[in-house]
Amino acid sequence: PDAVPFHGPVQAGIVTPAQDRLHFTAFDVVTKDRDRLVRMLREWTAAAARMTAGRDAGEIGAVAGILEAPPDDTGEAIGLPPSALTLTVGFGPDLFRPGRFGLSGRKPAALADLPHFPGDLIKPAISGGDLCVQACANDPQVAVHAIRNLARIGMGVVSVRWSQLGFGRTSSTSATQDTPRNLFGFKDGTRNLKAEETDLLRQHLWVQPGDGPEWMTGGSYLVTRKVRMLIETWDRTSLGEQETIVGRTKGVGAALGRSGEFDEIDLTARNGDGDPTIPVDAHVRLAHPDENRGARMLRRGYNFVDGSDGLGRLDAGLFFIAYQRDPRTAFVPVQLNLARLDAMNEYVRHVSTGLFACPPGVTGPDDHWGRELF
Ligand code: HEM
Repeated sequence: PDAVPFHGPVQAGIVTPAQDRLHFTAFDVVTKDRDRLVRMLREWTAAAARMTAGRDAGEIGAVAGILEAPPDDTGEAIGLPPSALTLTVGFGPDLFRPGRFGLSGRKPAALADLPHFPGDLIKPAISGGDLCVQACANDPQVAVHAIRNLARIGMGVVSVRWSQLGFGRTSSTSATQDTPRNLFGFKDGTRNLKAEETDLLRQHLWVQPGDGPEWMTGGSYLVTRKVRMLIETWDRTSLGEQETIVGRTKGVGAALGRSGEFDEIDLTARNGDGDPTIPVDAHVRLAHPDENRGARMLRRGYNFVDGSDGLGRLDAGLFFIAYQRDPRTAFVPVQLNLARLDAMNEYVRHVSTGLFACPPGVTGPDDHWGRELF
């Protein structure tokens, strides 16, 4: 009952109502052999179809095989339900480098490297990657099991470059979901693109015919940013200041000057002193489509706490995930705006970045991830 269909025109895990848990992993391709890579993608697809249905990664399973060989499933998900597991795959810019797999002619222009943004403190060791898999599920063990088994299947072909666990989705991606809160304590995802807004999704989320190479039509571009939050500093900031920085109230999540969470934001409104009700450096103003030539994206991020940093502070923040039709007209201009002007910058540090082309869905048992690309 809680299985999300794996096959379909678009990949699951994008407009699928955001699950509670994340295990995101970026891989480096370590083989030079294109056929081996394609074979692995085929094996990954079959394993993903099984695992998202709540079954073992391999056909034989964790405990039914011969005693002389390692099992084709690692076993920790035995007895657990599918938990709405979705596995979403993406291809990074480096995969298309000339001389690697003969894909340079198939690289979408939209997969152009992201620029350096003011204030970036990016760590290369936890950024980038040739492939990514976003595993989302309502049970962390199910998400971790899926990534672990894909990594096991990929041994010798790919190696894990970096990965990130997340909890407490920070965005609703469906009108059926309540808006969750990020670690600043604010509702996040109020004005997100939602699964039900099919016209807007066509305009802003899904790659359309003619946008670029045909193999991406029906896909979407993924940007990840690990954003460390300086929460101890934030927690010493007054409630009024916090609300001024975000541009929304902390309780209801209403835009400043309005009363309901979903009341339209009025960027032109002024208070009694003649100052803008939503300050010029407020996050929701700077990220608003009206300030970014109509740019919109589907945010699907998660909170993270990676323990503490040895200096008495929680190593915590937001693992930001956004899907869009073209990052050059969505994430990039919005983040440039935020990086330059956002009052929130005093409390956040971008430490990791990723960009991936997520192809359309796997249409059935004969199809596999990357079939139209390779
Ligand atoms: C809106 C928090 C980073 C883009 C919001 C809202 C909050 C928030 C509380 C208001 C609720 C909503 O409409 O969803 C944060 C925090 C961040 C962060 C805590 C970092 C730790 C980013 C980044 C981007 C971004 C990196 C993209 C470059 C947006 C957009 C909106 C938004 C597009 C909706 C604006 C609108 O249409 O009204 N964010 N955000 N945010 N944020 Fe962020």
